[in-house]
Amino acid sequence: MRIPEHKLDEIRQAADIVEVVADVVSLKKSGQGFTGLCPFHNEKTPSFRVNPDMGIFKCFGCGEGGDAFSFVMKTEHVSFMEAVRSLAERYNVDLPEEDSTPEQAERATRFEKLYEALRFAANWYYQQLKHHEEAEKARVYLQKRGFTIETIRVFGLGYAPPSGQALLDAAVQEGIDESILLDTDLVKPSSKGEGVYDSFRDRLMFPILNPSARVIGFAGRTFDENKGPKYVNSAQTDVYNKSQVLYGIHLAKSVIRQEKQVILVEGYTDVMSLAQHGVKNVVANSGTALTREQLELLKRYSNRLLMIYDADAAGQKAMVRGIELALEMGLEPETLQLPEGEDPDSFVKEQGQEGFIEHKRKNTEDYITYLLRLAEESGRLTSMHERVHVIEELVELLAAIPDPVARQVATQQLHQSTHKFRGGSDRELHAAVDASVAKRQQRNKLRQTRTEDSGPRTVSGASQAEGPPPIQDEGLPLDPSAEISDSVTPSKRRPEYERRLLKLCLEHGAWMVDYIYQYVYPSFLEDSQYREFFELLVERAKRQEPIDRSTFRAFPSSTPELLATIFMEKHTPGSRMSERMKQNRFDQVDEVMEAKSTMKVLVTHYLQRLKASITTEMSEDKLPDTRRQELVTMMREAQKQLNTLQSTAAEHCFENPAGYDPEQKRKEGFSYTPKPRKSS
Ligand code: UTP
Ligand code: MN
Repeated sequence: MRIPEHKLDEIRQAADIVEVVADVVSLKKSGQGFTGLCPFHNEKTPSFRVNPDMGIFKCFGCGEGGDAFSFVMKTEHVSFMEAVRSLAERYNVDLPEEDSTPEQAERATRFEKLYEALRFAANWYYQQLKHHEEAEKARVYLQKRGFTIETIRVFGLGYAPPSGQALLDAAVQEGIDESILLDTDLVKPSSKGEGVYDSFRDRLMFPILNPSARVIGFAGRTFDENKGPKYVNSAQTDVYNKSQVLYGIHLAKSVIRQEKQVILVEGYTDVMSLAQHGVKNVVANSGTALTREQLELLKRYSNRLLMIYDADAAGQKAMVRGIELALEMGLEPETLQLPEGEDPDSFVKEQGQEGFIEHKRKNTEDYITYLLRLAEESGRLTSMHERVHVIEELVELLAAIPDPVARQVATQQLHQSTHKFRGGSDRELHAAVDASVAKRQQRNKLRQTRTEDSGPRTVSGASQAEGPPPIQDEGLPLDPSAEISDSVTPSKRRPEYERRLLKLCLEHGAWMVDYIYQYVYPSFLEDSQYREFFELLVERAKRQEPIDRSTFRAFPSSTPELLATIFMEKHTPGSRMSERMKQNRFDQVDEVMEAKSTMKVLVTHYLQRLKASITTEMSEDKLPDTRRQELVTMMREAQKQLNTLQSTAAEHCFENPAGYDPEQKRKEGFSYTPKPRKSS
């Protein structure tokens, strides 16, 4: 169902962002807004801000930001629609039901029915475990393994009786359609032709819940490990997607946030045992290879990830793979080895909570230490030749870390842990990591150009000839649509000067867009979202449509985040930029001067990226001579431009907008008449 924009607005107006956020974060008044500890990453000093006037939040530590809807989506891990519904309910905004098309309504009800059937089954299995005669062996089994009644209840364990149709009959009696049971994989069509039968028979049942605590599927454990697989799981269904499942997440998520750490184990029973012994920030990825989606989910709660896998070869391999993936996604992986032959379940039962915590405190390894230990144990550090390979592998691993600062810290640590046997300076190591980063970027770029259409992006309707004049009219032949690959740093670290430029545009409207567009093409912007946004602003300016803060409403759904990013500043009054500008010849900052300084920085960065990408292209083997010539010319021009920019004060790098006089402006403000654009 689609909710009309005016309804969303109504909810936005009604929902008090401060109240919504304060559910999760304790907020303190500060300046015009509020600050607190960010719920999306671990921090000790508050860098999370809420601006009630604009209805947005923003964290300067991790970059998360948005409006009340996105806050609910991110903290409660629900869809946009669910967030809208929950806020509408809370703030008494009526949602129009008739707006949904019959198909959408049907789809929504079908999902509700799937969830209902799964919830019914979980309850029914639980009742069987408690009361069914044949469940006696299950009850004995659980008791033997030391699980308490409370743990069994909290995790909602159950028993599926051996009969092939017990669940089916009970569900049908409850009025649940057979087709729904089939779609949830609770029953399967019989291979013998007619009829259906229960999917789980004579098994101990573990319901699997999503972060919003809805039952999405089951795992059933056999009592006889010689008979078939130990665990069988629900098949992939519309609500059960194996690669997104984290067993125990609905119970662990709030504790993960409090503890600022998530513990990842392999098995269902490991999660249960640890929880029973008071260690509750635990989830299991259920014996499968860790996926990006699972880590994405965990990252919402914490970015410190402690992996406890079996000490066997398979477990080690899974951990190494987990480390790679975690680093790539900006998490901080750590590992913990348990004594030979133990798993978290057996260990915590023997040693209790204290024993476990003590072991964890003493034996947790950061991933560098862990990987070096693995290398050492397999004898790879004794041979000179092998050592080189080990270092190379680690260098490549570190190159995957998206945040440059985190990457440098890790590189320094790698240096410290290896310089004794590696020889060579930390500088060489940093250079090696940098080179590996460049290689990765190149690889990504190739992948991108192969998959996307690589046509140049220009502002629609603007031919290249019609574009902005180059800086100082020096006849720069740079191709303004020259594509430079997006940096691999995630969008969270957007360039500050690009943000500033957009902010200037939104604050001062069309004339500012016009002015900036004389010197800056959208393709000069590195951040793809900023770039798109600037393109849209330019288009609007061309069509003489108004541009102001509310312009955002006209843009796609990612805009609350973008809005927050653009309008919330880290250092409000004494920002470095304005400090620097105060020392400038202008004793007062005005928007034109600010635009000039910002454009100078932005264009400088663009030219540097352009140079880098030219260099990369030139290093390719099979480059046609004509292209090489072109590149040489481009390089020369880029360098010339850079020199000019660097040797000229920002004020003189760019012309003033027509009708603008700084002296006049200081006296009586500035009124600007846009000059008519050349028509296309
Ligand atoms: P384990 O064999 O370690 O099982 O597999 P476990 O969780 O410790 O169970 P207990 O203690 O023997 O009762 C670890 C995880 O791998 C998945 C399950 O998620 C299990 O929890 N697995 C294992 C399967 O999915 N299927 C299998 O046949 C075996
Ligand atoms: Mn086990």
